[in-house]
Amino acid sequence: MKILAIETSCDETAIAILDAEGDTTHATFRVLGNALLSQIDIHKEYGGVFPMLAKREHAKNLVPLLAAALEEAELVHENTQALAQPLIEKLSVLLEREPGLGDALLAFLTETEVPAIDAIVVTHGPGLEPALWVGVNFAKALALAWDKPLIGANHMEGHLLSALAQENGDTLVIENVSLPVVGLLISGGHTQIVAMKEWFSYELLGETRDDAVGEAFDKVARMLELPYPGGPEISKRAEEARAEGAEKHPLPFPRPMIGDTTCNFSFSGLKTAVMYQLKKMESITDTEKKAIAREFEDAVADVLWKKTSRALIETSAKTLVIGGGVSGNVHIRRVFEEQVAYEHPEVELRIPPRALTTDNAVMIGMSGYFRYLRGIRDTTDALRADGNLSLA
Ligand code: KG4
Ligand code: ZN
Repeated sequence: MKILAIETSCDETAIAILDAEGDTTHATFRVLGNALLSQIDIHKEYGGVFPMLAKREHAKNLVPLLAAALEEAELVHENTQALAQPLIEKLSVLLEREPGLGDALLAFLTETEVPAIDAIVVTHGPGLEPALWVGVNFAKALALAWDKPLIGANHMEGHLLSALAQENGDTLVIENVSLPVVGLLISGGHTQIVAMKEWFSYELLGETRDDAVGEAFDKVARMLELPYPGGPEISKRAEEARAEGAEKHPLPFPRPMIGDTTCNFSFSGLKTAVMYQLKKMESITDTEKKAIAREFEDAVADVLWKKTSRALIETSAKTLVIGGGVSGNVHIRRVFEEQVAYEHPEVELRIPPRALTTDNAVMIGMSGYFRYLRGIRDTTDALRADGNLSLA
């Protein structure tokens, strides 16, 4: 079946069209169309994501991205029939709160025949609520106009399930998954360890008490006067420090909560330690910046691994996945690969293809497909954006 998936929870506007088949024993997702626009350059100026600006950009970009994704999937056909007046009225009321979206969408719907898709999936949480609403209202309008089933998806489930997938040409395959699965979800908004003992049933094993790990990367980057998003900037410098064989920083940063008996995290103390270190230094050279980036990254990787290892033991997990933007981090990937092989050789580690680590609509389509199989449907009246939507 063909799924149209929409993602607008943060600063990426993304639309994907997947041809999905099979079930959890062997599911395949062929990516027919994939259109994504990152707002990073716009938010860079502000040093972080600005929700109302994100909302405006999503509204502006959704229709062109939809057109591009449908075109790539060869699903656009010209229509010459006008939209019925009652439908126009219904859509206008629905899109009243989405300035910049309504007129463009009505024009697009008038010109385009109903495409051969079978369901529409949209992220309805967690994330920035104003941003989520644009995607949700857009999806509702499409579901109404084209008379297609509507499914709300959880962004974190998308990160988790897509991390189980393996690439095979233009197709993503989920197969041979041994339960229980432990998922470490690390992004700009979340740091969680979840267990999936049965398919699609999640248990929260631990989470951050304060900052999300991506947020800590972004804040430390700002202290080092590096641009947003800070993760890749810190990673680049830390890798350079390692490659140059520079001595480790003489003052190791703390590993907050590493020794306690929970799977919870805290990153604000680590961030503060970096701040104090910088305060002590009058000026900072590039070499010192690299050393601090490396030491910070080492501390983060240590804590992430230790807590994940605890979760693997607690659940007797057979599979470990890491997902979310921070899972693209080279050093964290390396530490996890080495440590799983060394400490938990019975566990299979799956790391998502790099293009799937940061926000995208393909992962939303995957999660939506499994929801569809389970008979989950939402209605255009009831589906709501929920910034704090939880997985477990
Ligand atoms: O999953 P994501 O794209 O969006 C959210 O749902 O938050 O994650 C974005 C976060 C940002 O904080 C960014 O700095 C971080 O992921 N990030 C990284 C790397 N690439 C992105 N952090 C560390 N190393 C990276 N290579
Ligand atoms: Zn995300």
